[in-house]
Formats: sequence, structure tokens, C-alpha cells
Amino acid sequence: MKPINVGLLGIGTVGGGTWTVLSRNAEEITRRAGRPIRITAVADKNLELAKKVTGGACKVTDDAFAVVNDPEIDIVIELIGGYGVAKELVLKAIENGKHVVTANKALLAVHGTEIFQAAGKKGVMVAFEAAVAGGIPIIKALREGLTANRIEWIAGIINGTTNFILSEMRDKGLPFETVLKEAQRLGYAEADPTFDIEGVDAAHKATILSAIAFGIPVQFDKAYVEGITKLQAADIKYAEQLGYRIKLLGLAKRQAEGIELRVHPTLIPAKRLLASVEGAMNAVVVQGDAVGTTLYYGKGAGAEPTASAVIADLVDVTRLATADPEHRVPHLAFQPDAMSNLPILPMSEILSGYYLRLRVEDKPGVLADVTRLLAEQQISIDAMLQREPEEGEGETDIIILTHVCKEKAADAAIAKIEALPAVKGKAMRLRIENLQ
Ligand code: HSE
Repeated sequence: MKPINVGLLGIGTVGGGTWTVLSRNAEEITRRAGRPIRITAVADKNLELAKKVTGGACKVTDDAFAVVNDPEIDIVIELIGGYGVAKELVLKAIENGKHVVTANKALLAVHGTEIFQAAGKKGVMVAFEAAVAGGIPIIKALREGLTANRIEWIAGIINGTTNFILSEMRDKGLPFETVLKEAQRLGYAEADPTFDIEGVDAAHKATILSAIAFGIPVQFDKAYVEGITKLQAADIKYAEQLGYRIKLLGLAKRQAEGIELRVHPTLIPAKRLLASVEGAMNAVVVQGDAVGTTLYYGKGAGAEPTASAVIADLVDVTRLATADPEHRVPHLAFQPDAMSNLPILPMSEILSGYYLRLRVEDKPGVLADVTRLLAEQQISIDAMLQREPEEGEGETDIIILTHVCKEKAADAAIAKIEALPAVKGKAMRLRIENLQ
């Protein structure tokens, strides 16, 4: 059978892994795809690296546009990343009638609507399993395996760098900055780890998941994004004492009036499976009305785990390349003319439990004032902890966990609590998800 020809843009970690796995498992992959999948051209700025990895087995260039304009190429794999030239290359490949496989979550979360529309017009596929949670087939599961369900919520540990940092902070009781340096030394965190530690990478992925789960357009600009940089070792310790772990969660939840789309450090009960996801691993929980709770776990990054997802897309595209476009799985799981206009809710409207850490003077009536201000907003307390003050310290920490309430009620109560003379500085506020 005639091979399908692939052009690879970027032969770094994931590109190299894709080359290796595609070569090593060529026979099995061909048996699954129905025809050989052959990388016939590679573009990379580092020509020496490209030549070394491919060993002269295909064309190598430093001009990515030469690959997307090559008439022999059927599928373009985009592994360059970012919103710049990658966007131009993807749109050009589509314009040239080529299918695209990409791991570029930033590009799809921000420009997905334009890209999917262009692909729809041209009748080509844009596949992106590797864009979310690396080797975990979460896009496949949501888009195909769970199509019977009305998805209620998704909660994911979808950034390995931050999960590694949080695991180390908890295990070793170390501050954020120390663990970040260690993560960089071990190669988990990038030299510029901003996108990871500020929650942006997780928000790109959560945005894509929300679109597929609810059939809404990708709307990264409406996502709430909060990273882990302000988290203190003390919060992890107090959460532990109250039976919780802190994880950076990507959350997409359905409410009657709209969708909650948010990324932030979150307390989750220590007894949930998700709480045991440690180190750089990823996991996603999906709640569907028919299936109940399902959990997907695996490596969210790395050469071969991510290549596993890239090649799964190559096989899918190969199998469907000759099918009528309307018989393919829609890019965002729902038919393009059946998308929903449910809005992404502002944070003031989300529903959550809250963890509050207050630095207070250790004197009578302080706790009574704090609980009164919470009660005024109809916020019910779930649990409380007070650190015993050191001898002569005069101040202490009070930790309060609340039941679920609207964020605007929590905001109003916190503003009044912070204004109490006995409360020192700002309250530390984290959100709680029970994942039930
Ligand atoms: N930087 C990501 C992470 C991996 O730390 O999980 C690629 O998505």
C-alpha cells in the first residue's frame, strides 16, 4: 500500500521521540494504520541535530515553509510551539490541503477557532492529542469514548512541572524557590518556567478540554489563571493537617448559567486518587452523567510519551484521510454548526469552598469577629485550625475551611475580615474542590 508522507517541523525532544518510536514500531503502526507512515522531510533550525537523528533517511532543511509547501507531503507535524511562526506554518499547511498534527496547546487555546475553521473549509484534519497531558489519550477519551455523556466537570493535574514542585514542597517541607531551582537543575522546569509556574500552560490545556467537553469555542482569554508562586510551605502543611493536599488543578465545570474555566492551586481531599498523583505525572478526572467518574493517568511530557500521542494522531489521520470530511470526528467533538454559546462565567460567579489563612492577634473575640463576617455572607465553616502561638509571640495563624459558596460572597467576607484591626496583612485564600 502506498505510504502516507509526513513532514516533521521540529526535531527536538518530542520530534526526536516521534522519529524513534515511528521507526522502532513501524511494523505494528503500519498494521494498525493500513499503510506505512513515513517521515519524508524534517525541518529544524539545528540542521546538524536533524541530520544526526534522521541519519540521512529523509530530506532535512532549516526552512519549515519548504516542508509545508512540499507537494509530496500529506501530513505536517508541527512541534515548534508558540503562537508566532507556528501559526503561519499551520495555516499554510492547511491552505495547501495538508492535514496537521500538533502538540501546540498555546496555539490551539488562543487561535483554535481560526485554525479549525480554516481546516473545516479545506476539508483537512487538525489533530492535537499531544497538546493536553502528553501521552494520556484524554482528547480521544473525551471526544469519542464519552460521547454518550453530558460532561459535568473535568479536573486535571495537567502540568508536570508544578506537580513536581508541589510534591517536593510537601515531601521535604521546602519553600517554593528552593524546589523550583532543584526542578530546573533536574531538567523538569524550563530555564524560563513562567508559563508552567504561573499556570498558563495548564490554562491552555484546560481551555482545550473545556471546548471538547462542552462544545464551546476555545476561549483562553476568559480563563482564570493563578499559578503556585505565592504558595507557602505552611499552607501545604496546614492543608495536610486538615486532610487535604494542594494541587494545581485545571478545572472546567458546567453550571446552569455557564462554564467555569479556571486554573489555580486547589485543596483536594487526601483520600481522592488525584491527591496521590505525585512528581511530574499528570492525571485528569472526568465526570459524565452516565459513566460517573473516570480517571486518566500517565506521563504528561517527555520524548516518547508525547510521541505516543503524536503517532496516535498520525494513525487516526491516515485511517481517515480518504474519508469524507463530514464522516470524521469533529475537531471539538461537537459538529461545528452545533456549538454552544454558554458563556465562561466570571470568577465572581463560580462556586467553591475556600481555605483562609489569617495572621491574627492572639486575643479574645478575634475568632468571633471573623466567623460573624463569614456568617453575614451566609458562608458556613467546615473546619478550623489554630496554630498554638509561640511563647510571647502575641500573633498566630487561624485556618478556616468553608463550605461551598459563590466567590463574590467569599470576596466580600475576606475584604471585611482583612479590615479588622486584629487581622494582620492579607488573608491567604485558596480554593477547595471535593471532586464528588
Ligand atoms: N511544561 C509541561 C509540563 C509539559 O510541565 O507539564 C508540556 O506540556
